[in-house]
Amino acid sequence: MTSPAPVTVRVPAKVNVQLAVGGARPDGFHDLANVFLAVGLYDEVTVSPADSLSLTCTGPGGALVPEVPLDRTNLAARAAIALAERHGLGEPKVRIHIAKDIPVAGGMAGGSADAAGALVACDALWGTGASRAELLDICAELGSDVPFSLVGGAALGTGRGEKLQLLDVGGEFWWVFAVADGGLSTPAVYGEFDRLSPDAPPEPVASPALLDALRTGDVHALAATVTNDLQPAALSLFPSLKSTLDAGTSAGALAALVSGSGPTTAFLAADEAGARRVAQALIASGTCRTARVASSPAPGATLI
Ligand code: C5P
Repeated sequence: MTSPAPVTVRVPAKVNVQLAVGGARPDGFHDLANVFLAVGLYDEVTVSPADSLSLTCTGPGGALVPEVPLDRTNLAARAAIALAERHGLGEPKVRIHIAKDIPVAGGMAGGSADAAGALVACDALWGTGASRAELLDICAELGSDVPFSLVGGAALGTGRGEKLQLLDVGGEFWWVFAVADGGLSTPAVYGEFDRLSPDAPPEPVASPALLDALRTGDVHALAATVTNDLQPAALSLFPSLKSTLDAGTSAGALAALVSGSGPTTAFLAADEAGARRVAQALIASGTCRTARVASSPAPGATLI
């Protein structure tokens, strides 16, 4: 019998164009109104039959990516284990390789993307035929951002971010992402948000003006409405991000904000040429490690 051929799935990064955060819940999570937009920076997850579960990861040009754990704690490995368990397959016998291009530990959901990619890839490799609903269910168990990595495009996430309502996007938006030197822990940023919030924050709601800007593809309206309630907490823990935000604004970005829980910062530009100018200026400013240009929306997890 011949082994099935390897399966590769491409998965996008995301930016949160609105991240409205409510008070801490009894389970430790926060209720959100989280408007996700998938952006065209991708990881590729390849799975192939093997004697046991193993994981490898390389960055651009085959470089090692020391920040990515290669054990069973990696969300991609956990996705394979969860799918195998649900389908009575026991310990997954699969080699998972992640070709990483999404900035690591940055608030761009790279780990979540790898989980969604591994799930879709293993489903195809093993012929488990899981329904979309079942895949989304497993994604939600793995992490609050994982369901969005599966669906891509644009969506409003409520609950802790895992309950998705797909959104229409009427145009292409160009972004620059400044990659910081160092990382930020998501739980630490939410903890700092709680510390900085004197009273119970209001119930998070999606901004009608922002949803309208996405629907009509109006970049200036989008720039006027992007918000991130985690930004003060991220800046409090990582104060030098302020100079990155200022450098992007001085270079002509229409909007500048922390991406998710950071420390990656996101800059909205009027068009591709504008984005390339802002990226060059950010790199020249010395306020970030590197800057990447990407357009949105981007498709979700896709077999290639
Ligand atoms: O769901 P995920 O594993 O990505 O969440 C990581 C951490 O981020 C949680 O343990 C929690 O501290 C924080 N979080 C939160 N509220 C959310 C999502 C994440 O407090 N809605």
